[in-house]
Amino acid sequence: MSSHPDAPAVPAGTDVAAVRLEEVEHVYGGAGGPVAALGPISLTVPRGTFLVLVGASGCGKSTLLRLVAGFEKPTSGTVRTGGTEPVPGRGAGIVFQQPRLFPWKTVGGNVELALRYAGVPRAERARRVPDLLERVGLHDVADRRIWQISGGQQQRVAIARALAGDDPLLLLDEPFAALDALTRERLQEDLRRVSAQTGRTSVFVTHSVEEAVFLGSRVVVLTRRPGRIALDLDVGLPRTGVEPHELRALPEYAALRAEIGRAVRAAAA
Ligand SMILES: Nc1ncnc2c1ncn2[C@@H]1O[C@H](COP(=O)(O)OP(=O)(O)OP(=O)(O)O)[C@@H](O)[C@H]1O
Ligand SMILES: [Mg+2]
Repeated sequence: MSSHPDAPAVPAGTDVAAVRLEEVEHVYGGAGGPVAALGPISLTVPRGTFLVLVGASGCGKSTLLRLVAGFEKPTSGTVRTGGTEPVPGRGAGIVFQQPRLFPWKTVGGNVELALRYAGVPRAERARRVPDLLERVGLHDVADRRIWQISGGQQQRVAIARALAGDDPLLLLDEPFAALDALTRERLQEDLRRVSAQTGRTSVFVTHSVEEAVFLGSRVVVLTRRPGRIALDLDVGLPRTGVEPHELRALPEYAALRAEIGRAVRAAAA
């Protein structure tokens, strides 16, 4: 777990939330005048939560992720990850809407580099690359270059890279938005399985109500800009031991879709 050099140490065994926002507001400056992007918003995310953020375009979802990643400081209020101020590049694996990979390197080479950045020694890297590729279903294309694989496979490499760092937090900003429906469904299923295996706290941004219900253990719907909480719902569907098609066929699944869909429409109105 990363900690800011000036932040007070968190006593061992303290049950700190993975992410905590208190009265956070964010306003962008600029030539066109200030843009109130987010908040005020308060949100506590316990460890192990798979939180999905849903909201209209421009409501502040990416802003919230950037604050949690430490790329931006809030205009007011406090953001804490693991009890301390977030530091960019430390403590969170990030997957962006477009995969950010090294095209001249192989699939395995990209994952290896992420492990190297994470300070994993060479011998251990060689052991962990195949393991990570296996997890995201890429073991048979390990030696291909990035330009020799599909967009969906590239997004899998990005997820493997985000998982490589052993960071306690995964931040995913519409990672499947550019994919076709079938590939998207398969990646959702894989991410759900991997997330249940690793138990890592995740914050996942999407426009899709379907994706939110399928992936989330908790779903937060944001209002229009500046984004505030319109709905905060524990999903309560089983996280393991159920096949994706069985999950999608549950009556509770349809009810959640309807409830979240209504909230998204009301928030956008
Ligand atoms: N660097 C910036 N400077 C000024 N305004 C910004 C900046 N970044 C974002 N904004 C504005 O802040 C608001 C929230 O932006 P943000 O990117 O968080 O929205 P979003 O919910 O992620 O939208 P989308 O679903 O389209 O990705 C928008 O109105 C956007 O135009
Ligand atoms: Mg965005």
